[in-house]
Amino acid sequence: MMDQIEALEQELLAAVAAADDLAALEGARVAALGKKGRITEQMKGLGGLDPEARRSTGAALNAVKDRVAAALDARTAELKRAELSARLLAERIDVTLPARPAAAGTIHPISQTIEELVAIFGDMGFALAEGPDIEDDWHNFTALNIGPAHPARQMHDTFYLAAERDDGMETVLRTHTSPVQIRTMLSQKPPIRVICPGRTYRSDYDQTHTPMFHQVEGLVIGEDITLAHLKGCIEQFLRAFFGVENLKTRFRPSYFPFTEPSVEVDIGCRRSGDELKIGEGDDWLEILGSGMVHPKVLAHCGIDPTRYQGFAFGMGIERVAMLKYGIPDLRTFFEADLRWLKHYGFVPLDVPNMAQGLAR
Ligand code: DAH
Repeated sequence: MMDQIEALEQELLAAVAAADDLAALEGARVAALGKKGRITEQMKGLGGLDPEARRSTGAALNAVKDRVAAALDARTAELKRAELSARLLAERIDVTLPARPAAAGTIHPISQTIEELVAIFGDMGFALAEGPDIEDDWHNFTALNIGPAHPARQMHDTFYLAAERDDGMETVLRTHTSPVQIRTMLSQKPPIRVICPGRTYRSDYDQTHTPMFHQVEGLVIGEDITLAHLKGCIEQFLRAFFGVENLKTRFRPSYFPFTEPSVEVDIGCRRSGDELKIGEGDDWLEILGSGMVHPKVLAHCGIDPTRYQGFAFGMGIERVAMLKYGIPDLRTFFEADLRWLKHYGFVPLDVPNMAQGLAR
């Protein structure tokens, strides 16, 4: 009898050892200890034995049962460990591999150009100022010395908004970034040195006009700011922006209601057929409007024109981007054509700054 029990134990332990996955091991457990398992069957047979044999056989069977259960536990732990190692191996990631970002998107030429403007003027000590796209009539026109009957109003092709403000003031989509000058002078005391890039709106659409476009405004106010500062500042900016060391510039008398005197600034170029080369030749290309801030504009903003003066300028961002990057049609800027964006866009990691140089 004892021989049989010992043989049974060897058999069951061998089955446990041979199970090479958790499902097979469960099979071995059921075959040994399940309701109809080999040990259970043997236990049931104990009732037919005499008391002496029942006690000794029962004790032996219990001992076998304990050892088989222990073997099952040990094998279970072993198989689980093996399973985890296999999974870790299969899912292995080398976190020390270098990142290789596949840059799918590009930076729009308008964003890139604004970054360049900020870098160049930032280097000259200008801060960034902003104003709202929805302006009121006073900030967009009146405060800039464009009174209700001024003919310059017609030239702006203004989008008027249907709803008047609570105070009865008419609201418009700003037609230029010049109202940000006003907001800056109302909220800061001189000395002031800011640029204000942003969206502007006019009801116009053809090869050189879109209803939404971008401008950058510049404003410098101090006690001893002169036309010479205007000239030096704009010259330095244009040379940095177009990357031409000896870029020729021309300051031409002009008229804007909010500056006196007013100048328009041209840069030297050569035109031959469809080609345009900046910084060479004897032709001129108009780039921006500028002038000494009109005393009435200073007074509208509570700045004493007998003590302070300064200069301002305004420039179309699409226009200079087109010139710098050879983009022929303004309307393509806003068509969201992926092929165009891929061609004219900039690498996202290549942020313009004065230390590394601007985009070439
Ligand atoms: N606001 C003008 C425009 O949209 C541009 C401009 C000209 C701005 C002269 C200025 C300036 O600040 O001084 O056409």
